[in-house]
Amino acid sequence: MLEEALQQKEGVLNALLNNIPDMAWLKDKKSRFIAVNESYGKACGCDPESVVGKTDLDIWPRELALYYRKYDRDVMRTRQRIAIEEPLVDRQGRTLWIEAIKTPIIDAKGRVTGLAGIARDITERRILIEKLRAGEEAMRQAMKERETLARDLHDQSIQALYALGLELELCSQLMPESARKTGRRLRAIIKELNTTIRELRSFITDVRTIKPPPFFLDREIQVFLDRIRKTRAVRVLARIDEEACKLLDAGQSAHVLNIVREAVSNSLRHSKARHVTVSIARKKGQVCIVIRDDGVGIVKQDFDRKGFGLNNICARVAEMKGRMQIRSKEGRGTSVRIVLGEGG
Ligand SMILES: Nc1ncnc2c1ncn2[C@@H]1O[C@H](COP(=O)(O)OP(=O)(O)OP(=O)(O)O)[C@@H](O)[C@H]1O
Ligand SMILES: [Mg+2]
Repeated sequence: MLEEALQQKEGVLNALLNNIPDMAWLKDKKSRFIAVNESYGKACGCDPESVVGKTDLDIWPRELALYYRKYDRDVMRTRQRIAIEEPLVDRQGRTLWIEAIKTPIIDAKGRVTGLAGIARDITERRILIEKLRAGEEAMRQAMKERETLARDLHDQSIQALYALGLELELCSQLMPESARKTGRRLRAIIKELNTTIRELRSFITDVRTIKPPPFFLDREIQVFLDRIRKTRAVRVLARIDEEACKLLDAGQSAHVLNIVREAVSNSLRHSKARHVTVSIARKKGQVCIVIRDDGVGIVKQDFDRKGFGLNNICARVAEMKGRMQIRSKEGRGTSVRIVLGEGG
């Protein structure tokens, strides 16, 4: 009679377990299997009946078995249901991922007698999530590259075109005086225009292949300032410490050159200054870069409405983890001061 009742109970239990499409199992207090369903048998490649009485160590690779047992113990100790994502090595030796829910079995007297578990294959979901993450990362990278590209186009190519514009202006002033002199200048301008066009073209065709040519910051700044001296009535002074420039690596030097170009052309375009000074000096192992003019100063609402130029300067300083201060008073000039280096 008793045996019949037991058999009936077992039949009900098996029907219930096998009705679950996911993997399902019951274990006793010592993590021995009491019953597993057909899905579980399929996953481990064993007959469900043969699994009864065994432990994870008898079925799964040791490392996985110990991992499963750790969570079994946690569930029985804390008496709390847990949901975890676990790896699983199937019969073909492939690693799949399962989402397992483990629940303690508690008897009428409140004692933990084992646990019940179900698990579903979430390998595809994980692959999708990983693909999504990789896609997001690629998107972030592309956005970053786009930002750098926009910044370099503004600071390098557009500034170069602006400088050429200044030279053309000078040519037009020279015209009546000497056609030969003008011709020479025009040829030099055409050469530079072609260089700028080539530069822009390479930006467009392949962003990643562009490597800045090696250059010496102090020399590049002098070339830039000389050109301004030729074309503008402004007095441009430079106090550039070569040794300070040597403290900057190639990336920092390129940033500093672009900052100097932008700040100086801002002074020329907006400030009506009579003097512009560029200085680069060393101070306690740090490099201090100052671009100062004695022009009209930046009006507050113009400063708040920053254009590409000032925004790019801020972004470049931030990328170098430097510190920047822009001081300006209406009618009293503007100074852009940047400090780079440790504790910058
Ligand atoms: N040295 C300066 N003296 C006076 N005003 C300045 C000076 N530098 C910047 N400004 C003001 O701040 C504004 C923002 O400068 P910013 O360089 O960001 O943009 P922009 O020069 O107008 O355009 P671009 O995007 O081509 O640089 C300028 O339009 C100008 O009004
Ligand atoms: Mg500007």
